[in-house]
Amino acid sequence: MHIEIALTPASVTPLRLKGRQAVIIDVLRCTTSMLTALANGARGVIPTRGVTEATELRTKLGASTARMGGERGGMRIENFDLGNSPSEYTRDAVGGRMVVMFTTNGTPPFVNLRFDGPVWIGAFLNLAALARKIGASGQDTLIICAGNDGDFSIEDTLCAGALLRGIETGIGGEVGANDAARVAGTLYDSHKTHLLETVRAGEHARKLTKLGYGGDIDYAMRRDTLALTPRLNSDGIVASASQSTVAVS
Ligand code: MLT
Repeated sequence: MHIEIALTPASVTPLRLKGRQAVIIDVLRCTTSMLTALANGARGVIPTRGVTEATELRTKLGASTARMGGERGGMRIENFDLGNSPSEYTRDAVGGRMVVMFTTNGTPPFVNLRFDGPVWIGAFLNLAALARKIGASGQDTLIICAGNDGDFSIEDTLCAGALLRGIETGIGGEVGANDAARVAGTLYDSHKTHLLETVRAGEHARKLTKLGYGGDIDYAMRRDTLALTPRLNSDGIVASASQSTVAVS
């Protein structure tokens, strides 16, 4: 089994995706919010290319069926129902509804990359469940860090490194890994006792703290609170029926 990590989506080519399943990670905050929405009963999350596409899709689905969520510069977009804070994706807000989403870093990989296998959603919240799923599949996997404004981000890299270690623990041995995966695994090993402090000191977390979203960082770093392994399909990102009943506040 071979696990590659892409530290930014820019390094992901169709060739790297060929014959592999993929995991997309955007700890702050897109995949954390997606997981929270699904755990709180959202029927699915549809990543879109931009505000126009999101608005058209919400109009098509109907305002009572779909909520529009996302951010620009960390803040809720005008006319959107929800921002990108996981605390907004409550059962009241999204239960039984679709969520149409657009964010700066997290949604583009879903809509821009040409996948060749299953696409899973990763964050610290569902790390153990996802590691089990990937390990049990035995399939070669490309873990894609959404990064921050096209660049490396410490929180996504640490999460990818933790996922690599979780997969290795699950299968009881080392897996084949590219250089980025070896670096991410080593970075995780050296920071695993103080992950929250490390992430809080990062660029994206400092920006979110300035915007008043410091609580989102603490929430996003709560590890293994959800047993969800949502997957992208033609209707968007969905959790299986048995998974969508977990309640999160
Ligand atoms: C993104 O997708 O760009 C991020 O989730 C940004 C944010 O923290 O809101």
